[in-house]
Amino acid sequence: MVGVRHPPDHGNNVSISTVKAKRMNTFYQEIKRIKEELGNNIVIPAHHYQRDEIVDFADFIGDSYKLALDCSKTDARYIVFCGVHFMAEGASVLAGHNQIVIAPDTGAGCPMADMIKTEDAGKAYDLLTRECPREIVPVVYMNSSAEMKAFCGARKGTVCTSSNAARIVKSFLDEGRSVLFSPDFNLGVNTANELGLAREEIALLNPNGTLKEGYPARAKMFLWPGFCYVHQCFSIEDITYLRKEYPDIRIIVHPECREEVVNAADHAGSTSMIYNTVRDSPPGTVWAIGTEYSFVNRMAWEFKEKTVVPLKKSLCTDMNRTTLEKLFNVMVSVERHFKGKGELYNVITVPESLRKDAGDALGRMMDIVENKVT
Ligand code: 13P
Ligand code: SF4
Repeated sequence: MVGVRHPPDHGNNVSISTVKAKRMNTFYQEIKRIKEELGNNIVIPAHHYQRDEIVDFADFIGDSYKLALDCSKTDARYIVFCGVHFMAEGASVLAGHNQIVIAPDTGAGCPMADMIKTEDAGKAYDLLTRECPREIVPVVYMNSSAEMKAFCGARKGTVCTSSNAARIVKSFLDEGRSVLFSPDFNLGVNTANELGLAREEIALLNPNGTLKEGYPARAKMFLWPGFCYVHQCFSIEDITYLRKEYPDIRIIVHPECREEVVNAADHAGSTSMIYNTVRDSPPGTVWAIGTEYSFVNRMAWEFKEKTVVPLKKSLCTDMNRTTLEKLFNVMVSVERHFKGKGELYNVITVPESLRKDAGDALGRMMDIVENKVT
């Protein structure tokens, strides 16, 4: 746990900012106290896009793959997941029956995850299975509902994340199968490019699960047309502008960015890959980062011996919904529950009917990545 960063004093309204600073300090001290009191009974995983004051309390920080893996290994009774809903749901699927996953804000969602419904995925899967010569395997991005993960698990498919999409897709292509990839179109195209697929080996689906006119039936990847607004906004113009401003700049972007942006950047990778690359670069290097702004801002603050600038300021409003106050509120309820004095709230559960299949899809991903299958 890193020391607290105090909120900025805006100066022009001393009484309001003093009251606010006091409240923030109370939340901070109470979260710290409860966390210490509960010891190994509680863990707080936080995604890289979380606010600084939340990351300060994190036991695990990482990209979605690392967080899922860390959650699958913890024995803590309470997992207070600071991220968005699909991440907490993933942790709940992986949790043992004696473990409880709690989210500080259950309304923190992901618009991309909502861009596919299992009913439409089912239509696409049935159509492709009927019409394509190769066997179809559904691969769903971690940024999806537990229902979509279960849909894939039930059809011998898997989940993937930005850190392992190429590896997962390759494992199926090598077996002579084609992949129904959803919901992120950009991650799909960027993965196809990384694997060296030709244009005619990729086909785009319609949002209702039907296929575009004249699609190549022999395609190896069928892509769902979902996207992330936070990453979709980066452009070639942003890259050109910064390359002129800083001739030695290195540009690193998330693979949810559009294909032309990924191609024009120097590197692309998951949030952990971005963090590790900047952290491990020599002092004096200059970086532009094409991903969520809170994260880029924190790296600029943390790696002061380097220059870190955003490719553009682009905030994920859902990730930012988790505030210190909301974390404090759930911590108080966890403490009461632990002492047998009250109900827990904001518990994230996944229906029993979905748990096994969603768990199979997540487990298959981990087996491929952790080399348990070839
Ligand atoms: P990572 O798995 O790279 O952390 O990405 C998660 C995400 O939601 C990016 O928008
Ligand atoms: Fe979803 Fe985009 Fe936010 Fe990631 S950054 S959680 S993909 S909306």
